[in-house]
Amino acid sequence: MDAVKYYDKIYSFKDYEQEASKIARIIGERLQSEGRHLLDVACGTGKHIEYLKEEFDVEGLDISREMLDIARVRNPNVTFHQADMIDFDLGKKYDVITCLFSAIGYAKTHELAGNAIASMSRHLVAGGLLIIEPWFPPDVWHAGTVHAMLIDEPDLKIARVNTSFVKGRISYFDLHHLIGTPEGTTYRVEHHELGLFTIEEMKLMFTDADLSVTYDTEGITGRGLYVGEKTS
Ligand SMILES: C[S@@+](CC[C@H](N)C(=O)[O-])C[C@H]1O[C@@H](n2cnc3c(N)ncnc32)[C@H](O)[C@@H]1O
Repeated sequence: MDAVKYYDKIYSFKDYEQEASKIARIIGERLQSEGRHLLDVACGTGKHIEYLKEEFDVEGLDISREMLDIARVRNPNVTFHQADMIDFDLGKKYDVITCLFSAIGYAKTHELAGNAIASMSRHLVAGGLLIIEPWFPPDVWHAGTVHAMLIDEPDLKIARVNTSFVKGRISYFDLHHLIGTPEGTTYRVEHHELGLFTIEEMKLMFTDADLSVTYDTEGITGRGLYVGEKTS
């Protein structure tokens, strides 16, 4: 089974249109630069881009070729870059960079997340904005909790179950999927590791990257939101 084929089904509970409109509102309130160039880092299947492109001149970046294949079909006129957020260099600058749905956690360590934020900051014009929706801080991640979700469509059933674990500052979990289609039922496991950073640590990563930062505990989905402004 293709690893990302069911991503949009599994996350169909997310309201990307509403999230994108909240992002657009924040940009409207905070952006100091004049342009409309926006880069969505770790853009996945391009679902925020689908809506952001109505108001901005948008590009996307992700490390996964499979995710980008889906994003390109969804957004045929948008430029996408396959690159690692930790050390990318696109040779151009943007007014806004977004990194949403906790993707920054995949940088895993404090040092690499700092590198990712520095890379994003280097791609911002003066007065530009870096908007990051974080993964959980260490005190909010509860190891030993069990989670389940079910997709129940006539020709597709997906049961996904996982237990949350932690080792030091790394949260990790295996997503166990049972996938039923008219062709048969298959089983697959997806391993994930994401770094747990405190709010103070995240803010320091922004200021170290020449960004003045504010943190909103609610954000666009309840996971919080950092908005950094490029100061130089
Ligand atoms: C939880 S998904 C979020 C995708 C999308 N932003 C969304 O809201 O649906 C995390 C994404 O981060 C990407 N990713 C993970 N590590 C990355 C890295 N080092 N550089 C760029 N993208 C990365 C994955 O390929 C995946 O598309």
